[in-house]
Amino acid sequence: MTALARGGQPPRNPPGGLAVRELTVTLDRNPVVRGVSCAVAAGGWLSLIGPNGAGKSTLIRAAAGLVPYQGAVLLDGADVRSLRARERARLFAYVPQEPVLPPDMTVEEYVLLGRTPHLGYLGSPGRHDRNVAAAALDRLDAARFAARRLARLSGGERQRVVLARALATEASVLLLDEPTSMLDVGHQQQVLELVDGLRRDGGLTVLSTLHDLTAAGQYADELVLLHEGQVAAAGPAAAVLTAALIGTVYAARVSVVTGADGRPVVAPLRPRPDTGARG
Ligand SMILES: Nc1ncnc2c1ncn2[C@@H]1O[C@H](COP(=O)(O)OP(=O)(O)O)[C@@H](O)[C@H]1O
Ligand SMILES: [Mg+2]
Repeated sequence: MTALARGGQPPRNPPGGLAVRELTVTLDRNPVVRGVSCAVAAGGWLSLIGPNGAGKSTLIRAAAGLVPYQGAVLLDGADVRSLRARERARLFAYVPQEPVLPPDMTVEEYVLLGRTPHLGYLGSPGRHDRNVAAAALDRLDAARFAARRLARLSGGERQRVVLARALATEASVLLLDEPTSMLDVGHQQQVLELVDGLRRDGGLTVLSTLHDLTAAGQYADELVLLHEGQVAAAGPAAAVLTAALIGTVYAARVSVVTGADGRPVVAPLRPRPDTGARG
């Protein structure tokens, strides 16, 4: 029975629409993010791109409630400041760019931490929590090292385990800061496809930063190009990933061609040889 048939009300949008309004973050008196606004609908994927130091991680950290900011972060139109900490921890899962992992903890114990916001006061994880954690490890091709200590993982394995912890939270919004920077091309594809499946089937909303511009254009519905804390361009990949914009903002020489899937492929070009005669 549809919501319409049941109550005579039109169906509500699925939860998880995220909006950032006029966000400003000042660190050590430096305005690192300056009046940024952007929004992603429930089930959508917005990716921040931009050169090192543009403010991408800081914006994600602000959305996760980890740095003080001016402006607002809205979930389904409501200011997240009105949420209680536990509620916020259930709704948002954050994967930092450089996670600090307790070296002696096992992978399994660590992924179970993703269930913490669901446990009662002083509660210990139950069978359902263990099942959710195991399923998350499985989806990230990490089940075989469940019993291993975190100190004994490669960079790519660590990255998958941290993602598994985020999935175990079963949050509405995934905040991913360069989730694939340590992964080989196969695992990168696997992780990005997995996240894409979660948002398509499960309505999960994704705000990410992605280093790889081609991958950003392949997976996100919309890109926001940050430059010195401000929005330099925003829109679908074809509008943002242009050789001219990337050339200006990154000070890089690239060629942008249309790939077999119709999406832009960004390839670096060597700078033109210096033709000026010397001496
Ligand atoms: N705690 C801090 N204090 C002062 N400046 C900071 C701090 N953290 C980051 N920054 C500065 O903020 C800018 C943006 O950083 P960041 O958000 O990490 O950029 P990105 O993720 O785009 O590479 C950088 O210039 C960085 O040096
Ligand atoms: Mg960063």
